[in-house]
Amino acid sequence: MVTLFLIFEFYTMTDLIVTIDGPAASGKSTVARLLAQKLGASFLDTGAMYRAVTLAAMKDRVDLSNEDALLDALQRHKFRFSVRAGRMCISIDAVDVTDLIRHPQVTANARYIAAAPKVREKLVEMQRRFAADREKIVTEGRDQGTVAFADADVKFYLTADPAERARRRQAELETKDDGETLEQTQKALEERDQSDQNRDVGPLKTADDAIIVDTTHLDIDQVVDKLHGLVKDICSKKK
Ligand code: C5P
Repeated sequence: MVTLFLIFEFYTMTDLIVTIDGPAASGKSTVARLLAQKLGASFLDTGAMYRAVTLAAMKDRVDLSNEDALLDALQRHKFRFSVRAGRMCISIDAVDVTDLIRHPQVTANARYIAAAPKVREKLVEMQRRFAADREKIVTEGRDQGTVAFADADVKFYLTADPAERARRRQAELETKDDGETLEQTQKALEERDQSDQNRDVGPLKTADDAIIVDTTHLDIDQVVDKLHGLVKDICSKKK
């Protein structure tokens, strides 16, 4: 009897990777989600990952400036990132924290997690695994085109005037009755940009081969249409 051993090698193959980086409140998340829908792609909001680790560390009362303690918190809990009805949903140890991670205190503390090299390394690894399981992906954050997916098919860098970004963020916050003034919102955004641009690891910057899109005078649909057209164009030229 001949026994036939078949060795299967499973290759994970992502056909299309589109990255969208940019400063806070530049519209990345909404644009990435809608663009992913148009392309029939999965959507990844990497900011939500940094926020989730921040929340877990805060709940554990971890010293946020202690990198090893942050890494422990990341490894101690089970984080789940899924997409439901086009929305990125996050759970920690099976508890849904999708809304909690948007709390202003989590937003303010995320910079500690973002500046911790070992934590970033793990999160980038998770992002790559998420992409490897999917055929097409639109991923957004700060370092997606520069670090996580440096060989992405199409890279965008979305930007907008700080005053316009503050106005957009304010419109979002007003619906949640947060009570922040426009000036406070703009100041907080600018501080977050500074911290994102100036950290040593995975800083916010434009990849050399990214297409810069200024969204100051564009509405969401116009931005999505523009990006969609560019992706189609670039992909058809690559074939
Ligand atoms: O995009 P969002 O505002 O949700 O991100 C929250 C924070 O997570 C950012 O201010 C940034 O410090 C961090 N972040 C990051 N790298 C990413 C995505 C987010 O450092 N790829």
